[in-house]
Amino acid sequence: MRLTDAQRAMLDGADQRRGARIIQRMMRLLVRLGDIYGAERMMEIGSAQISGVSFKSIGDPGLEFLEDLAAAGVKVAVASTINPAGMDLEDWRTLGFAPEFAARQERIVAAFRALGLMVTATCTPYLVGNLPRFGEHLAWAESSAVSFANSVIGARTNREGGPSALAAAICGCTPDYGLHRDENRAPTVRVRVSAAPATQADFGALGYLVGQRVRDGIPLFSTLPLAGVDELKALGAAMAASGAVALYHIEGVTPEAARYGGRTLDGFEVTAQDLDAVRAELTTGASADWLVLGCPHASIKELAEIARKLAGRTVRKRLWVCTSRTVKQLATASGLVQVIEEAGGRVVADTCMVVAPIEAMGQGTMAVDSGKAAAYLPGFCGQRVVFLGRDEIIEEACR
Ligand code: F3S
Repeated sequence: MRLTDAQRAMLDGADQRRGARIIQRMMRLLVRLGDIYGAERMMEIGSAQISGVSFKSIGDPGLEFLEDLAAAGVKVAVASTINPAGMDLEDWRTLGFAPEFAARQERIVAAFRALGLMVTATCTPYLVGNLPRFGEHLAWAESSAVSFANSVIGARTNREGGPSALAAAICGCTPDYGLHRDENRAPTVRVRVSAAPATQADFGALGYLVGQRVRDGIPLFSTLPLAGVDELKALGAAMAASGAVALYHIEGVTPEAARYGGRTLDGFEVTAQDLDAVRAELTTGASADWLVLGCPHASIKELAEIARKLAGRTVRKRLWVCTSRTVKQLATASGLVQVIEEAGGRVVADTCMVVAPIEAMGQGTMAVDSGKAAAYLPGFCGQRVVFLGRDEIIEEACR
């Protein structure tokens, strides 16, 4: 593999930075990965997004690994943001998180901070300042954000694991294979949508179905006229959860779709009946005692819409709206958090219904409007699911 002088110095252990031996181990990991996939060079990256942040996901071994890195004085080489943590980092007490869990989660976040990462604690880094440009190479590990960056922005990242994304963040580069290369970004299957998805839940159901069918393929959607940014993040998150879709194209919507417009591809159609069947498949419980919106993390626009629906009403069940700390601060400054919380909901920052230890927090059936959350809640959190639209969830919360 061709390496620059700086990359060679990292690999040889001649790098002058503190923690040179750890940097050498990280560079070896990247070179090995490149060798496996036939990469001929390393690409410099514009940013990294690191997964494996919740204590629930990485446990004590992950915590100790991160603290060892931090103690060695290692720092990331590029702008790097982190995934949601296992709890709201400020309001965990009032939300019911256990102090033992919180203590470990705080140590994880402290280690990331010491490594030089930005404590964004969100799966939507592109909404809080880690916004790549078209064609920029990245090493991102959050599957929904990988999908958004590749598809909606036209940046280039493989679906990294936590360790490879962290290695790329520390070394500032990633091997040139997979979705970094033009030849691997062409669609493999055409999806004609005769259903008319309108809400985020519709797009989540569509993504869940398409992910199941195409697995790690690259779908080209013929038409999806109502797809805005929030719908696209819901669609991509679900496709990455039920399948392993890291890139999709939509004619007339996403930036690379026009390159492939004339291509003849096998495919399938998604009808309104298909979406009804997916909603039924995702619903495994009868009546929800906990209702959660904000997967992927809610944007400021979504928070404004939720606040408008809740204004002056009374929430009678546990209702969480998950978002990033940054978006929550903007929503607080705009009076939106106050409206939602005066109604009885909670705007929960830094975490979500999947990476928080909700299985230890006492309830068993959760209503969501997210195809990704519906895919993960049964297996990862031991929850039954009621899959509803956002407006239906708000009505249910106030019933
Ligand atoms: Fe984000 Fe959690 Fe959903 S990490 S995409 S809100 S499962």
